[in-house]
Amino acid sequence: MSQHTECRYPRISEHYRQISDYYKIYDINSEDWFWRASHADDIEHFFGAEGASDYEVAVDAVKQLGFDTVFDIGCAHGFQSECFLNAGLKYIGIDDTADRKWNDDKFDYLIGKYPFTVPQEFLTGKYIAVSRLCVGILISEEYQFQQMAETFPDILICDNYWSSRLQKYYDLVSVFKKEEDGKRQDNWNWYYYRRK
Ligand SMILES: C[S@@+](CC[C@H](N)C(=O)[O-])C[C@H]1O[C@@H](n2cnc3c(N)ncnc32)[C@H](O)[C@@H]1O
Repeated sequence: MSQHTECRYPRISEHYRQISDYYKIYDINSEDWFWRASHADDIEHFFGAEGASDYEVAVDAVKQLGFDTVFDIGCAHGFQSECFLNAGLKYIGIDDTADRKWNDDKFDYLIGKYPFTVPQEFLTGKYIAVSRLCVGILISEEYQFQQMAETFPDILICDNYWSSRLQKYYDLVSVFKKEEDGKRQDNWNWYYYRRK
């Protein structure tokens, strides 16, 4: 894992240290082992597979665009909520898995197979949906995009191709690119769409 990135997320690093020691020696058949192992796996992706650095680009984009609340569709355990927390943004995670979510004492998580009706009380403030490795890939049917467009006028999707499927319901407005070593990366970006 990148130590440089880990330094920016001390609480998650500490959680990883605790559970990764524990899950190596614990009874593999227990329920407790499963959530610890799946947290460790998610954190390895967050630090090691560009999760943190991708979501940091989303945070900048959300702020630049003037939104204050994000719905993260396909949030997994929500470790990336830490990026939004650090930036003072409100975060609501959506996922179809119900196991323990990160920062669930600070943020709400809506559990279910999206699309579903998001209760009106959550649709407050200036909100935008974000999604990385879920909308466009795992949520990919026309009827799903249609229902998403009814709820979310603004969406920000991280991918390199798939979100073009959304264009029946949304117009592409701008692209937010990650800079690495001072160079713009061309292949894995955040695409900001606005409902037609
Ligand atoms: C590949 S993971 C991506 C996690 C995170 N967004 C990231 O970038 O690391 C996809 C997540 O989407 C969730 N997911 C897939 N289809 C979904 C659906 N229809 N509704 C809600 N969550 C879904 C999966 O359970 C999983 O947690």
